[in-house]
Amino acid sequence: MMSSWLKNWFQSQKQTRKFHPFWIVLVVMATLAVGGVVWVATYLFKVEEVPAVPAVASSAMPGEAGAQTGNLPATDKPAPLSVEHGGDFSPPDPEDIPEGEFGDVIRLGKNIFTDTQTYASAYVGNGLNCVNCHLDAGRKPDSAPLWASFGMFPAYRDKNKQVNSYEDRLAGCFRFSMNGKAPPLGGKEMIALTSYSYWLAKGAPIGVALKGRGYPELKQPALAPDEVRGKGVFEANCAICHGADGQGTLVKGRYAFPPLWGGQSFNAGAGMSKINNAAGFIQANMPLGQGGSLNLQDAWDVAKFMTSHGRPADPRLAKK
Ligand code: HEC
Ligand code: HEC
Repeated sequence: MMSSWLKNWFQSQKQTRKFHPFWIVLVVMATLAVGGVVWVATYLFKVEEVPAVPAVASSAMPGEAGAQTGNLPATDKPAPLSVEHGGDFSPPDPEDIPEGEFGDVIRLGKNIFTDTQTYASAYVGNGLNCVNCHLDAGRKPDSAPLWASFGMFPAYRDKNKQVNSYEDRLAGCFRFSMNGKAPPLGGKEMIALTSYSYWLAKGAPIGVALKGRGYPELKQPALAPDEVRGKGVFEANCAICHGADGQGTLVKGRYAFPPLWGGQSFNAGAGMSKINNAAGFIQANMPLGQGGSLNLQDAWDVAKFMTSHGRPADPRLAKK
């Protein structure tokens, strides 16, 4: 054994009283041992310090966590889902709109949105209401819900090549989807619609694309979208509500089922007149109550059929 060998060696050193080179080895080994203990202690101390640093950064600003902790040591804490993938969000229940002045303006916004024909008639040029394309009073995911939109503005839009406020975005749907004119910025209608959207988005992260925003982007179909096949899909799945001629169904002067083309529908500058938006909306939401039931090809074909009909002109072209 090493220890008994060392003992014997010490004994022989005592007896001979002569310097032996093994002393050097012993001193070097002792130095290394002490150094090692110090090094391990420093290492343990450092490891304990690490988790405290990202905790400060991530509690400050979840949306920026990735950027702010970029130069810090990685921890095994997963990033919040909402930052990287757009989290799930559920808007509040309309029953919970508060009482009082703020509640009143939220309620007006909801009324304008669901019954635009009555509450903002001066700004509407067709038979539609906002809710016709933004289902469940602007709450339904995959039908461009207001709660997913509100926190994404101001934003640059290719459509008008400038940074748009949320009110500018609302104005766009008045002008094109409603074939009307935008209510004045800062006016009663804009404030009410903004308040309603703000309330629906309460608690949602700002600047984060939430799951369910906009209309789904569908994959390309196997066959190029075809009007003739689309007509068959329309007759089998849509005509019962929207009418064989796509002109909707009027009940006491109001559309129970909205028109899909013609003079009372959205104009040619509207997002819904683009086949990709139409196909995404239709596949996710139509036939009403049976969203997701059409296959990919049928959704593109019926969108092609719908968008190939005549409708009011794009107001941007009419002015030139
Ligand atoms: C004919 C269908 C239609 C009608 C009616 C309509 N919209 Fe839209 N709306 C769209 C389309 C299409 C988009 C673009 C969605 C996208 O880009 O994914 C859109 C987008 C929006 C957005 C932005 C959504 C986002 O995620 O950023 C808001 C806000 C909005 N509409 C509000 C309104 C309001 C308010 C009205 C009524 C005054 C209205 N819409 C009427 C079709 C419609
Ligand atoms: C059961 C009745 C019903 C059927 C069937 C139906 N829809 Fe609709 N559709 C509606 C209603 C109601 C709305 C308005 C929703 C609202 O206001 O909440 C609507 C809205 C729409 C809109 C947006 C508003 C507009 O007028 O442009 C489009 C586009 C649309 N439907 C296309 C279709 C297509 C395509 C089909 C067939 C694949 C179809 N719908 C089948 C009832 C129906």
